[in-house]
Amino acid sequence: MIILGIETSCDETGVALYDSKKNKILSENIFSQAAKHALYGGVVPELASRDQVLKLLPMVKLTLSESGKSSDQIDAIAYTKGPGLSGSLLVGASFANSLSLGWSKPCVGVHHMEAHLLVNLLEERSPQFPFLTLLVSGGHTLLIKALEIGEYQVLGQTRDDAVGEAFDKVAKILGMNYPGGPEIEKIAKKGNPNSYNLPRPMLNKKNLDFSFSGLKTAVLYVVKKKKLPLSKDFKADIAASFQAAVAETLVERCKSALLQTGDTQLVIGGGVASNQYVRKRLQKGLQGIDIFFPNLSRCTDNGAMVAVAGYHRFNNESSFSKSIEIKPRWDLSELNK
Ligand code: KG4
Ligand code: ZN
Repeated sequence: MIILGIETSCDETGVALYDSKKNKILSENIFSQAAKHALYGGVVPELASRDQVLKLLPMVKLTLSESGKSSDQIDAIAYTKGPGLSGSLLVGASFANSLSLGWSKPCVGVHHMEAHLLVNLLEERSPQFPFLTLLVSGGHTLLIKALEIGEYQVLGQTRDDAVGEAFDKVAKILGMNYPGGPEIEKIAKKGNPNSYNLPRPMLNKKNLDFSFSGLKTAVLYVVKKKKLPLSKDFKADIAASFQAAVAETLVERCKSALLQTGDTQLVIGGGVASNQYVRKRLQKGLQGIDIFFPNLSRCTDNGAMVAVAGYHRFNNESSFSKSIEIKPRWDLSELNK
């Protein structure tokens, strides 16, 4: 099957063409609106959806021409149905359903977080169900037992800020640009991760939930005691200390979840999975566990993950899109058959 994947859950616009027989992405394009939103220190939903209206058609045309495929060679269209920003989701859903009508091809709406998880199946070395999954993005922090495709048990989640959101907010406190994750990672390379003793949230609790807003506030208190402008050395040290607190929290939570479930495979996904320091700490802290990371370019939102998830949803008729439907709030466990 050849599937066209369309991702518009937040500020990225992603389009990709997936060949399921070869388990390969034939062509893909991602347009990041980061520069547009950086002016405002975060995503402005109205700007995001307006830009996606303009970008989708040229990006689909480009992706098709780069793959050498024509519309009649495409078997199906997949789009992100939720969770995400309503306006952005509506743009993708309307566009995908219109293509579906115009091309007379079936259309399927996929769950964004399932797509972050399933993108790992594109890698040469990929996990075998069942496995444990840690999804760390700008909107979610989830520990999931993935039993099989479409069957997920949420073991833990954040009670307040998501990890990526905490990176973005800490970057803002330090006067850095949106998105904050890559900025923090870059400056933290020059800092000492042991320079500030920041909290490791929730680690004293027995459950598998997360909380990152207290950690962000702890950074704010340290910053408030400093004279402005903040020095580069200070920013590097506090960024490195924050990143270390996040990484240790993720490692410890995964350790507990792995002990609880007995899994030996851990799949990571979402924007924060592109952080090299976090990757290294997970690998070092979870020795003996087979850890799977997506390709760096497929950690943050992209069309490839939607195309792959769409393919795996196609054997389930109930996922076929019959109208323009979105689910801005959508619990992953609701997918279970
Ligand atoms: O998965 P994603 O693209 O979108 C959502 O589904 O939310 O994740 C975006 C989040 C942002 O909060 C961004 O700051 C964070 O991922 N992120 C990173 C890095 N690259 C992106 N966080 C830490 N380190 C990075 N290198
Ligand atoms: Zn995402």
